[in-house]
Amino acid sequence: MTSLINPEELLDKALRASHQAYAPYSQFHVGAALLFDDGTVVTGCNFENASYGLSLCAETNAIVDANHRGLRSGLVAVAVHGGPLQNGKISPNAHAITPCGRCRQMINEVAQLGNTDPQVYCGHEGGYTQYSLSALLPAAFGPANLDN
Ligand code: THU
Repeated sequence: MTSLINPEELLDKALRASHQAYAPYSQFHVGAALLFDDGTVVTGCNFENASYGLSLCAETNAIVDANHRGLRSGLVAVAVHGGPLQNGKISPNAHAITPCGRCRQMINEVAQLGNTDPQVYCGHEGGYTQYSLSALLPAAFGPANLDN
């Protein structure tokens, strides 16, 4: 566990991922970085669609990428960084954003499969706000509920 990266490093990876965002409709660029207990980091960015409603969030895309790599447990932290694009950069005044409801549920799937309660670091200029997933999604419905 000692080799795991710190929140600032994970947020930096999320910020870098946001540079790959495809968000021509909202101009709101988001990156996410998932940290697993073996030190693996999986990133994602939002990918919008001309039909608007089909747009996919950064966190969801990162979770799907992790699944593709066989990573469905051991999720210890999630970093999210995003904001409106101004002059080609995410606005330095951007407030921290928390994962949307759908993304909380997506993150919860992997969290429950591995019996972890990931820390969620929501970045903003000069710092971050930290939550546990269980605080963002209390009394969550998950895979265990299907086992009855
Ligand atoms: N978005 C994310 O990727 N993650 C979040 O946590 C919040 C919102 C995206 C969706 C859409 O492409 C854009 O940001 C504006 O809502």
